Amino acid sequence: MNSMLVVNSSARMQRSISRRLVDIFVNEVSMSAAQGAAADVALTVVERDVGATPPGFIDEHWIDAVFTEVDRRTAAQRARVAESDLLIQELKNASTIVIGAPMYNYGMPATLKAWFDQIVRVNETFSFDLARGDYPLEPILTGKTLVLMTSKGEFGFAPGEEREALNHLDGHIELLAKYLGVEEIHPIHVEYQEFGDERHQQSLHRAYVDASELGVKFRRQWEAEALQMEAVQLNAPRAAQQGWQTRRR
Ligand SMILES: Cc1cc2nc3c(=O)[nH]c(=O)nc-3n(C[C@H](O)[C@H](O)[C@H](O)COP(=O)(O)O)c2cc1C
Repeated sequence: MNSMLVVNSSARMQRSISRRLVDIFVNEVSMSAAQGAAADVALTVVERDVGATPPGFIDEHWIDAVFTEVDRRTAAQRARVAESDLLIQELKNASTIVIGAPMYNYGMPATLKAWFDQIVRVNETFSFDLARGDYPLEPILTGKTLVLMTSKGEFGFAPGEEREALNHLDGHIELLAKYLGVEEIHPIHVEYQEFGDERHQQSLHRAYVDASELGVKFRRQWEAEALQMEAVQLNAPRAAQQGWQTRRR
């Protein structure tokens, strides 16, 4: 079963570019066999809209609670980390995470940072062991894929470009993604939104095409896996019968 966690963080519900990119990708991936896909893929999609409903900020009580052993937590401490538990469970259930992130003040929206603060949690998503020397943190989760859709008002934020040093959005998310168990990242970016000119139109068009093509690529891969699984299941009775015949000989 493929499972996608979709995290949108733009404060804009209308005319948001990052939300549009996420929609294009998710719609493409979710296309069913009835709509022309080669096979129906078992897919669950969970949406966590931190732009519309921001997670709470962590505070001293939260930190005390997460550093208290699970079976020693008070009822109040368990209640304090209930939101974090839920968000972490959504993450653990997902094989693919799709994040839509606008650049605000050269970084991620505070709502998205609040989400990361709730889920990057000791003994849940990372372990801490001083026996590892100067790098005591290690992710606990593995094998996840991140699709990262960003939109920026200015431009030139890519490696080697003029505003690279001002880009505190992509690198930060990619760094934290490691602690979500992400091992593969597919980034798609739009720039020039504040200029609204031809350069923006080109950037937008390129990203829409990329988001759609990436969706097709994911769907094809999942379809191939679904077909392979079907073939294994179809052959299973025959294989079992052959095994029985072999034993009889
Ligand atoms: C509060 C706020 C802060 C922003 N800060 C920046 C910024 O620091 N750098 C930048 O290039 N664009 C900045 N922008 C422009 C947004 O990144 C741009 O509008 C982007 O398209 C927003 O994503 P969305 O379309 O998904 O809402 C800012 C926009 C807002 C509303």
